Amino acid sequence: MQAIGVLTSGGDAPGMNAAVRAVAKIGAARGVRVVGIDDGYDGLIERRFRELAAPGRVDPAIERISAVGGTVLGSARCARFREPDGRQRAAASLDGMGLVVIGGDGSLTGAHLLAREHGVRFVGIPASIDNDIGCTASALGVDTALNTIVDACDRIGDTASSHRRAFVVEVMGRRSGYLAMAGAVAVGADGVLLPEHGRSEAAVVEAVEKLIRKGFEGGKRRVLVLKAEGVEVPCTRLVRLVEEKLTGVEVRATVLGHLVRGGAPTYHDRMIANRLSLAAVDGLLAGATDEMVAWLPTVRGGTETTDPYVRRFPMEHVLEETRALLEGTSVVTKWRLGLLERVEGVLPL
Ligand code: F6P
Repeated sequence: MQAIGVLTSGGDAPGMNAAVRAVAKIGAARGVRVVGIDDGYDGLIERRFRELAAPGRVDPAIERISAVGGTVLGSARCARFREPDGRQRAAASLDGMGLVVIGGDGSLTGAHLLAREHGVRFVGIPASIDNDIGCTASALGVDTALNTIVDACDRIGDTASSHRRAFVVEVMGRRSGYLAMAGAVAVGADGVLLPEHGRSEAAVVEAVEKLIRKGFEGGKRRVLVLKAEGVEVPCTRLVRLVEEKLTGVEVRATVLGHLVRGGAPTYHDRMIANRLSLAAVDGLLAGATDEMVAWLPTVRGGTETTDPYVRRFPMEHVLEETRALLEGTSVVTKWRLGLLERVEGVLPL
């Protein structure tokens, strides 16, 4: 393999740039060209390429991109790629290059189809703030997103305490409640609303009403509830319905939205970006394909790498475990929820 293409795809995530830079530097050190592909699969179909590295040389322009959130290559959701003809054009564009795909479930599924339908050789690096990718304990962007949530909730706590108010803060996560769950414990929230709870609107309203009553009756100056966006009661509607049940209590809604996806990557996201990229490039050059590198794997199996914290898993296994994560049948989802159930009663005390 004389050249490797690298692309970022799906929702951007802090740490993607650190991975792009690492792939370029490691490829150059291993004596191969590294080509950056703009705007994910859209750019691959259109051959929007840029030289990131040649054997022994890296474009100086990417030297400091590790410190920058988002992705300098750009990302796009590509409808054409969902069609066989689009995937055929994408495979032809690679012209025999290996491929590193940095992205989430949808992006890795697309690469899996390229491998199966056209024999494209790729290794995936998990990147999604939702942390909804199977086999890996963390994906790029999760740690930075959680630090953003902590900072935002600390700020909201300041004003909520000043006015003895309750706040419902909504965080991203698509169908995964991971960010809300991990964030709630870190910020000392009184409670958390997860799609994995599978509650009705009425049950969600009742749960929040109880948490607020308990908090203020217990003398708290502020009550904070984190809500995953996958809980389909709109935040402002939830706050209105709860306020109707409470007298003399002010409740406010804050939707963090895309704030949670931006920002300079933390040490942790930069560190795992580099170590996952090393395993991905070395794996690809050693002949691995249709696999994803996983950080602190959450399931048995996989292929060892030179890094004891990183193993490679076949995409079939990753996608199967991802489905189980989101359906709630995964052991990982079960122990995460089990852990939360053991602390949930502690949160509002
Ligand atoms: O998958 C990452 C994510 O940020 C989700 O948490 C969120 O639901 C979605 O992307 C938002 O997508 P878009 O940026 O296309 O609105």
